[in-house]
Amino acid sequence: MRAQEFTESEKTVAQNWQPDSWKAHEARHLPSYDDAAELAAAEATLSAYPPLVFAGEARALKADLAEVAAGKSFLLQGGDCAESFAEFHPNNIRDTFRVLLQMAVVMTFAGKMPVVKVGRMAGQFAKPRSSDTETQGEITLPSYFGDNVNGIEFDAETRRNDPQRMVRAYSQAAATLNLLRAFAGGGYANLRQVHQWTLDFMGRSPWADKFGETADRIGEALDFMEACGVDPATVPQLQGTSFYTSHEALLLPYEQAMTRRDSLTGDWFDTSAHMVWIGDRTRFENSAHIEFARGIGNPLGMKCGPSLEPDALLKLLDTLNPGREPGRITLISRYGHEKVEAGLPRLVRAVKREGHPVVWSCDPMHGNVIKSDSGYKTRPFDRILSEVKGFFAVHRAEGTHAGGIHIEMTGQDVTECVGGAVAITDDALGDRYHTHCDPRLNAAQSLELAFLLAEQLRAETAERQADAA
Ligand code: PEP
Ligand code: CO
Repeated sequence: MRAQEFTESEKTVAQNWQPDSWKAHEARHLPSYDDAAELAAAEATLSAYPPLVFAGEARALKADLAEVAAGKSFLLQGGDCAESFAEFHPNNIRDTFRVLLQMAVVMTFAGKMPVVKVGRMAGQFAKPRSSDTETQGEITLPSYFGDNVNGIEFDAETRRNDPQRMVRAYSQAAATLNLLRAFAGGGYANLRQVHQWTLDFMGRSPWADKFGETADRIGEALDFMEACGVDPATVPQLQGTSFYTSHEALLLPYEQAMTRRDSLTGDWFDTSAHMVWIGDRTRFENSAHIEFARGIGNPLGMKCGPSLEPDALLKLLDTLNPGREPGRITLISRYGHEKVEAGLPRLVRAVKREGHPVVWSCDPMHGNVIKSDSGYKTRPFDRILSEVKGFFAVHRAEGTHAGGIHIEMTGQDVTECVGGAVAITDDALGDRYHTHCDPRLNAAQSLELAFLLAEQLRAETAERQADAA
């Protein structure tokens, strides 16, 4: 109804686009539902529910990301591979949030770079799967597509695609986001609390000691500033922080139902999260997922794996960001530790040559999955670090900003990725392997990675200053 209230010239959104125009395009990795009426009912319910985020907040994130694109700050994006109904608990949300805060503090303090914090949280449910079905023994059932589609247990009833799960996922996302907002603005993220963010079980990690030292130095800096009359009571940045949410915009019926027109500008926004991204398997030209993404005003991520050619990337950028708006696009490379240095420069050069103002972020997780001897899917921590180093090396060589990191992690003391300072061994993977999909970094591994990132950021800044001198 509101559509008529805006003239074409008032809108900056894509032409010939509607929230459902993706339906005329090729959609891969979408579940099929056996009862159309049941699907329509769930979509109608979601369409009438309140937005989870406001357009103004998505625009604020875009402005923050524009600073990253300009080389002035760094994007930290992390959380579960897949959120689940079973692991929904305030302590899990709190612990992931506080590890992200710890990481951000390390990078800001030791890397001297402001950090934009975005959770893979409050909506990261749907998963693309390499096969539509899974066979165990004699039985073949639909694959598990994420808790907003079907259940992980291997029985026919649980594996049925159930549209009502989208409504439950919305409720969980709303409650998660509510708690995250409270943590970010309600005192928990006050820099005076920095010592309290360390988790008890981290005591075994040498990086926890190093974090303690950083926290001491931050405390001294705050004491000094307070003596000078600057304190958290007068400076809002010290009292709280901005924290945004994101997920893969994979389950298009859900995303469409959450897409609303901004009453201020008339632009369409996907109000399910501040930022959404398109996965490596759904970013092909003319895909339904690209069609959907091009019309929403949110900042967009796009995964870039080894199969993406520079020309195809440039076409996608023209489709998704014809106005070349800085902060609109974050390219998340995920090559694998052995391929990044050979593969990424071609993309970086093409994008630089065409003048597209993107954020370059590194996902060192999805190209580094192996099957361990004990049978678990894992990611060796040294390969993750190696891809991050390769990513920074490429950007230093190309004169571009290594702008972000995209990780699957948790604040829990899980044993899913092998290696790290408190070494998780292959034999130990079974101890606390809880993920609903891919293996995540645990809290200690995440913190260790943050110190490596800080070191890389310092080196990038030093090189830039040397060039300018
Ligand atoms: C993911 O981020 O969980 C994912 C599936 O990644 P990719 O699209 O890069 O494979
Ligand atoms: Co994953």
